[in-house]
Amino acid sequence: METVKIGLLGFGNVGTGVYKILKENGADISHRDGLDIKIEKILVRDVRKKRSIEVDENVLTDNVDDIVKNPEISIVAEFMGGTEPAREYILKALSNGKTVVTANKEVLAKHWPELEKAARAYGVGLYYEASVAGGIPVIKVMRESLQANNVYEIMGIINGTTNYILTKMSEEGRNFAEILADAQQRGYAEPDPTSDVEGFDAMYKLSILASIGFHARIHIDNIYREGISGITVEDINYGKELGFAVKLLAIAKKQGTSIEARVHPTFIPMDHPLASVRNSYNAIFVKGDAVGNLMLYGRGAGDLPTGSAIVSDIVTACQQKGRNLYSTFYNEDRISPEITMIEDWETEFFIRLTVKDEPGVLAKIAGIFGKHDVSIASVIQKDHNRGEVPLIFVTHKAKELSMGKAIEDIRRLDEVIKVENVIRVER
Ligand SMILES: NC(=O)c1ccc[n+]([C@@H]2O[C@H](COP(=O)([O-])OP(=O)(O)OC[C@H]3O[C@@H](n4cnc5c(N)ncnc54)[C@H](OP(=O)(O)O)[C@@H]3O)[C@@H](O)[C@H]2O)c1
Repeated sequence: METVKIGLLGFGNVGTGVYKILKENGADISHRDGLDIKIEKILVRDVRKKRSIEVDENVLTDNVDDIVKNPEISIVAEFMGGTEPAREYILKALSNGKTVVTANKEVLAKHWPELEKAARAYGVGLYYEASVAGGIPVIKVMRESLQANNVYEIMGIINGTTNYILTKMSEEGRNFAEILADAQQRGYAEPDPTSDVEGFDAMYKLSILASIGFHARIHIDNIYREGISGITVEDINYGKELGFAVKLLAIAKKQGTSIEARVHPTFIPMDHPLASVRNSYNAIFVKGDAVGNLMLYGRGAGDLPTGSAIVSDIVTACQQKGRNLYSTFYNEDRISPEITMIEDWETEFFIRLTVKDEPGVLAKIAGIFGKHDVSIASVIQKDHNRGEVPLIFVTHKAKELSMGKAIEDIRRLDEVIKVENVIRVER
């Protein structure tokens, strides 16, 4: 039996999950893996704060050096969140010869090369299964189980909060603000929901997933990002009429050396496997040239699911013993040089307008689409309402930049009262 002493940086949702798992399943892990994992110290901001679980007060500390410079501790698990001081503490741990396991997607997406360089230099490991999709073991699958493949497409629901909000809007017909307030009250959404609802969280995770999947560094600056705060119940209802469900999707596609990476609300056909992923569940749909289509589904957040990924990484780190799995792009601070990022990708589009109820409007708009090489697949024109009519178009595949120009021209038409929304469609 090997005794492994670990230090935790953070004791919030994830930290307490790790604590509970080791308490409940520690004996089984010892029995199965010959490892006695002991929590030696836990870093928190406030050692006097009332906690949901009782911990020996000697274990809590507000001094990071009690962990990163503690010779007894060989593995440091970080779940404080944010970039600083998380980055600084991870680097301190690595430079003191400690393997680091983290759930922090933001610090990894922004500072990956620096962290990985330090891990290599000090001959220790850096593990981050929990950083993407909580309890779903997607990092391990992408890194190890799909080695035989050229992965060419990743499409995922990797933010539980937005999926919960969109599911509720769709099923209960209530608007975004109402559902968000409800989710905040139940603790499903953060008091400051910006990172989730505006797509930053999904962007960090996509940067990590796409970098591993495509064996190239895909920096967050190269990922298009749009959140769900502009989605309305009207959009969702029109989408339903057309056979679509709306999801905040993280999408990365590779063709040769060209890569597109984007996070935005997306209509997908109701029979797409991702359409049935409801509430706060996550799922990642991957296409590989040998394996074909693959989908992973599960809990993308929560104390125990995320703790599951952390504790599994700790066990893996113990088993690896210095034989670490590093990425190949560790020295690229921005984007891998052999990669070209595409900004003018092709998708179908759903466009919802409110226009004046006058003859010839449809023809004018169709003319603008034609001028910009956008071909229309279907049109829905609804009932008149005091001289205004909702007009909905779904296009065939069109270039992103052409659509942007077409929308600019349409917005300028006197007959167009408002461009209500433009939502991309993926088949
Ligand atoms: N929650 C999830 O389900 C989930 C899932 C996957 C990944 N993650 C990631 O895991 C990380 C943590 O999430 P969480 O939900 O567990 O956060 P949380 O509940 O806010 O907990 C953060 C913990 O870190 C401590 N902390 C924060 N800043 C500190 C500082 N400067 N010095 C010392 N201690 C500090 C806090 O101390 P106090 O307790 O004293 O305030 C708290 O215990 C984030 O990166 C998040 O993105 C979370």
